[in-house]
Amino acid sequence: MSVFEPSSENTREFRNALGRFGTGVTIITTAHEGRPVGITVNSFTSVSLDPALVLWAPAKASLRFNTFESATHYAIHVLDQSQTELACQFAKDAEKFDSCDWHWNDQGVPLIDKAVARFECERVSSHDGGDHAIVVGRVLRAANFGGEPLMFFGGEFGRFQGAA
Ligand SMILES: Cc1cc2nc3c(=O)[nH]c(=O)nc-3n(C[C@H](O)[C@H](O)[C@H](O)COP(=O)(O)O)c2cc1C
Repeated sequence: MSVFEPSSENTREFRNALGRFGTGVTIITTAHEGRPVGITVNSFTSVSLDPALVLWAPAKASLRFNTFESATHYAIHVLDQSQTELACQFAKDAEKFDSCDWHWNDQGVPLIDKAVARFECERVSSHDGGDHAIVVGRVLRAANFGGEPLMFFGGEFGRFQGAA
């Protein structure tokens, strides 16, 4: 155990401490110059029930930052436990749509057919968040498909196990 003040000298330890917070895993999709693009994200968080608002945090260092931070419409797919490989593929490559079934929605957003839940969003605002931005979206359509979620904890993918 170590107690420390986060600084530019110990970002790895800070990241490791943050990684003790288990999350689900999402792929966020949008269109860029008419082509479908995606990014794997675990900073997704619900914000408000009424109005229906959610947020996520794109890293400013990402090559995909401008595309995703400025997207007026996008979709957030909460991944199923069988989708580890897809999560890894979209972490590396924004254009991995040949690895999954998908279709366009009415707003021209690519929707991945398989997910445990999906939120089709319209961008509301973007806020400075240090080396990330905080993008808030209004949920235009939500879907709950059921199934078991993919989890991320301590830098590893895994499954959810309910308390016995
Ligand atoms: C489980 C997981 C969660 C991630 N969460 C985020 C996130 O919340 N925000 C973000 O900008 N990138 C996140 N990433 C990294 C992106 O998926 C992507 O790898 C990164 O933006 C590099 O993209 P680039 O090659 O376009 O620069 C995550 C990756 C993984 C594997």
